[in-house]
Amino acid sequence: MEIQVVAGSIQEREDALIVVNLFEEVTVPGGATGAVDQALAGAIREAIAAGDLRGKKGEVTVFYSRGAIPAPRVLVVGLGPRDGLCLQSIREAAATAAKKARDLGAASFSSIVHGAGIGGMDPQAAAQAVVEGTVLGLYRYQELKGKEVDRPDPETFTLVQRDPAQLPAVETGAQDGQVVAEAACLARDLVNRPANYATPTDLAEAAIEIAAEFDNMRCQVLTEDDVAELEMGAFLGVAQGSDEPAVFIVLEYNPGQLELDTVVLVGKGITFDTGGISLKPHENMDRMRGDMGGAAAVLATMLAVGQLDLPLHVVGLVPATENMPGSRAYKPGDVLVAMNGKTIEVISTDAEGRLVLADALAYAARFEPKAVIDLATLTGACVVALGRGVAAGMFGTDDGLMERLRAAADASGERLWPMPLYDDYLEKIESLTADLANSGGRDGGVGTSAIFLKQFAEGYPWAHLDIAGMTFEERPNTPKRPQHLAKGGTGFGVRLLVEFLRAWAPGA
Ligand code: BES
Ligand code: MN
Ligand code: ZN
Repeated sequence: MEIQVVAGSIQEREDALIVVNLFEEVTVPGGATGAVDQALAGAIREAIAAGDLRGKKGEVTVFYSRGAIPAPRVLVVGLGPRDGLCLQSIREAAATAAKKARDLGAASFSSIVHGAGIGGMDPQAAAQAVVEGTVLGLYRYQELKGKEVDRPDPETFTLVQRDPAQLPAVETGAQDGQVVAEAACLARDLVNRPANYATPTDLAEAAIEIAAEFDNMRCQVLTEDDVAELEMGAFLGVAQGSDEPAVFIVLEYNPGQLELDTVVLVGKGITFDTGGISLKPHENMDRMRGDMGGAAAVLATMLAVGQLDLPLHVVGLVPATENMPGSRAYKPGDVLVAMNGKTIEVISTDAEGRLVLADALAYAARFEPKAVIDLATLTGACVVALGRGVAAGMFGTDDGLMERLRAAADASGERLWPMPLYDDYLEKIESLTADLANSGGRDGGVGTSAIFLKQFAEGYPWAHLDIAGMTFEERPNTPKRPQHLAKGGTGFGVRLLVEFLRAWAPGA
């Protein structure tokens, strides 16, 4: 979909549909909605007076202009109470409107910048939120479906800004919003894509394609032989049970630019997690194709970093493999030697994420980074603690880094909640045969996973985000649910990381 920004009045647009908005408890709309209402001889006011239009969140009402203005249809989308207006409600309203526009078969539609006028929001941030909501709301996963769709996506979306002085801000916000939302859609595709398509090799191809778009991005795909050379025994232990070749992806933006700050992003890339010999129950095992949600977020973030041309040295690391049972698979009781020399007793082959991350975190040290952030669908315990689709758990060794992440979470609406890294958890992963055990049992399962990772995240400020509950939306999309989220892959982490990196970059 083509996205553009123009100056002017929305009621003069010649699109198949125009979008305006309404707050709750407004009886006489002002601003752009008021102008459209006047052009329609009070049709909107009449609907409000009749009680049909209330400005509630998620509400969307169609008016037919019957020649009064060039656009044949007007959508009024509810913004909810005025004092509850925030970037998140703008995203949701934009998503609601965009889906309705598609349902109505509009080939082109335009919208005002919700929140920027009477709402008093910063026009750049509001424009970004409108475009994010629009692109995310229209997302659907169709790679493997027949080509026929009931309603195609609109071809163009136009943001209309009445005050020409605000045009540059709206343009910047719209561009950023498109970059970041399209990147999130890539992450969604990677998560939704079945594991027989989204293999480690497929992730490597996605990384190579991303790097090919930019002169200053480099992609290295390390093979199992390369990884053996590096002595990544923990990663290889997990990989040995699968015939699907494992890869370790290194994507680097602005390589060799020593004056730039280095930030390393690490994404868990288990393309399918059966649990291995410690086999998972079969119910809902298909969801474990999403066990590369961290990898998807990191790869997609690298795409956005390149498009936004951030003045940072950003490195994306993805250890990618299946976790399979089989005659060559690693077994409970086996001891693996990680890249940093630490030995690990395998208590459960289903605690594989922390093993592949252990080697990736050890590898990260070679970049002498200012910060390392890993994203991983690591534990069911984190889902139990914080809930499904509510917030990701955040652990870390550096308060400043976690503070920046919290700020990015607030701005992006992708929630993080701080979790403790008490040394007490270390006791629970003591092993009879090795330096560490890969599982501490049920109690404190999220804390023991994080303290395990900490043993490998040495020499740099580090944060760990457990996104197990956030990568895959289980609930079907009913009218009451946020419309920018559909069932399936969420792309969680992309908007958060891009916001974090943008705020870190000099000149932000
Ligand atoms: N990939 C899973 C965690 C997971 C669970 C992700 C639910 C998304 C939704 C991970 O590899 C795993 O199996 N963790 C185990 C660890 C345990 C064996 C110590 C878990 O959480 O049960
Ligand atoms: Mn597992
Ligand atoms: Zn897993």
